[in-house]
Amino acid sequence: MRKITALLLAMLGAHPAFGWGVEGHQLVVRIAEGLLSPAAKTDVRGALAPGEKLEDLASWADEVRRTHREMEPWHFVDVPLGSAAFDWQRDCAPDDCIVAKIPAFEKTWQDRTANAAARREALLFLAHFAGDLHQPLHCADNHDKGGNDVAVNFLGEATKLHTLWDSGLINHMPEEEALFAMLQQAITPQRVAEWSAGTPEQWCNESFHAAEATVYGLLPPHATGAPVELGESYARAAQPVIEVQIEKAGVRLAAILNRSVR
Ligand code: ADE
Ligand code: ZN
Ligand code: ZN
Repeated sequence: MRKITALLLAMLGAHPAFGWGVEGHQLVVRIAEGLLSPAAKTDVRGALAPGEKLEDLASWADEVRRTHREMEPWHFVDVPLGSAAFDWQRDCAPDDCIVAKIPAFEKTWQDRTANAAARREALLFLAHFAGDLHQPLHCADNHDKGGNDVAVNFLGEATKLHTLWDSGLINHMPEEEALFAMLQQAITPQRVAEWSAGTPEQWCNESFHAAEATVYGLLPPHATGAPVELGESYARAAQPVIEVQIEKAGVRLAAILNRSVR
């Protein structure tokens, strides 16, 4: 799958700063699907065309973003490093960031009088933004466009800090099926109960703290402008953070979809 994905991405051209890579978003949706109630499963299937699978549409929002530039800010929020937490006025005016878009699309998803095309789109945005919200750099900024301006050398390869967290580190982890099994078995009923609580604002603050503590907190000292040299020790510290963030994203997407049919 990863090879096919890489090939497709190569055909589509570079794919910078678009949330978790295709694999990360797919993992989030697959985890959520495993936690859906029968009613929610029926609800989701009914919103998709015959033969469509939600996991294959998990990155659709990143494709439409290329031609609809006004949708770009919907995928992240720049919470300044060093601030206490996400702030609506400072970070999300006028409701044009990911923390506002998740409840907005949830409202459309819950509205059974909304037209079918609008509900399908709301579902695809929710499936995607649940993932993006949990990529730490989609809820943090250090005057660097969420790490997009930070040049990195990861194991000899030139990249950006943001891209490393979208996909570079995941590609360095166990392959997709092994990773999926690992993540799934780590999700206990107790974690489902604990993680399903809260709001997108609180979930964003968790991402923000992960960005402070790990993404930026573990960068070695470096001269400004020079690429930051990162290797196995950074990847080892990042892996458990990425695992938990993807698990939480899947659990919370399931919670959103389950509560709409209660
Ligand atoms: N562009 C500006 N800030 C960003 C962020 N935090 N994530 C993704 N793209 C961005
Ligand atoms: Zn995105
Ligand atoms: Zn991204």
